[in-house]
Amino acid sequence: MAVIKVKKTGEVIEGDENVRSFLNKQGVLYEHWDINKLPEHLRDKYVLTDEEKEEILATFKEEIEDLAARRGYKTWDIVTLSDATPNLDELLKKFEQVHIHTEDEVRAITAGHGIFIIKGDSETGYFDVELEAGDVISVPEGNPHYFTLMDDRQVVAVRLFIDPSGWVAHPYEEKEEVGQ
Ligand SMILES: [Fe+2]
Repeated sequence: MAVIKVKKTGEVIEGDENVRSFLNKQGVLYEHWDINKLPEHLRDKYVLTDEEKEEILATFKEEIEDLAARRGYKTWDIVTLSDATPNLDELLKKFEQVHIHTEDEVRAITAGHGIFIIKGDSETGYFDVELEAGDVISVPEGNPHYFTLMDDRQVVAVRLFIDPSGWVAHPYEEKEEVGQ
């Protein structure tokens, strides 16, 4: 289950209901998929063939189609990041800049971990959402954020888009301290 850390106050929010209600208040969708559905051989695998990617998408077909129907997403794929990814450090450096998109950033983690650092309302400020397998998040369009890996430095996630060609990172000039 996801864990939230509010940067300004150090507050930690855990537990499905607390996490969901905090994120919903911030306009961030949070859901959970049953990761036990994933076949054993795909649970901790970070270098995937096209067939294995298809197998993950087929495993969660119902969940993906349900989310897509509710939120207007039209297409989906699998993204993987690990030490096997060429230039991982360079990529992470590029990721770790606050930016916005003109559509939602939707990720369903199926293996490993990731963190979204998201700008909340003015009272809350930036907060981390630490995600593990089964966590599903949608950062709303136009909401400043960035993504990075956790200590295990590996993740597999389903991405959903309205239009992947429109899914471009626009830098966001932050005047406040994002914090650590
Ligand atoms: Fe993004």
